[in-house]
Amino acid sequence: MRIDILTLFPDMFTGPFNESIIKRAREQGIVEIVLHNIRNYSDDKHRRVDDYPFGGGAGMVMQIVPVAKLIEQLKKERSYDDIIYLSPDGERFNQQIANRLSLSNNLILLCGHYKGVDQRIRDHYITREISIGDYVLTGGELAAAVIADAVVRVIPGVISDETSALSDSFQDNLLAPPVYTRPAEYNGWRVPDVLLSGHQKKIDEWREQQAMERTKRLRPDLLESGE
Ligand code: ADE
Repeated sequence: MRIDILTLFPDMFTGPFNESIIKRAREQGIVEIVLHNIRNYSDDKHRRVDDYPFGGGAGMVMQIVPVAKLIEQLKKERSYDDIIYLSPDGERFNQQIANRLSLSNNLILLCGHYKGVDQRIRDHYITREISIGDYVLTGGELAAAVIADAVVRVIPGVISDETSALSDSFQDNLLAPPVYTRPAEYNGWRVPDVLLSGHQKKIDEWREQQAMERTKRLRPDLLESGE
């Protein structure tokens, strides 16, 4: 899979993509993440990428020209499954969307800034708008990093124990059961006996029941939505 990220701040991605599981997936060639600085596509001699909104009002707007030039160039090179704009207006991101996007060959993630991008980009290039939650970030970069992380980790082969991504919280609309490791007792706090019993069927039943109880208590909306 290839993910092209269109941003004014490529350095914001160095941390998230150069550590741990995403770093390994890139090194193994499972995913290629390419960062593009939108500023490099500005025609302006000062490399400006924003301008005042027509009709007036506060804030600046990301100009159409640099973004359109960059998207056109990328579209000439390959076809994209989706061109996604990160915006608080978009559909709310969740595990189902991550799973579906992980089947893509090529994705573009466009990170917004200022008051947003010129509407004509959204009308003519963007195929999907995604929000990572009902709050406003300073730009789309952190949202793009969240989406890339969630998408890449469910690509088969990225997590070594391939069943582990499937047993995550949310994969079946249930939160994950509690986990424990050694020592079996710390400070008088004991690990539940069933996990030490060696009785796999009982352990599986306990985990299912814990997952259900946790979901009912903490996220009853997941059980109601039935998505
Ligand atoms: N850009 C600013 N806020 C955002 C959010 N909540 N989700 C996605 N992109 C954003």
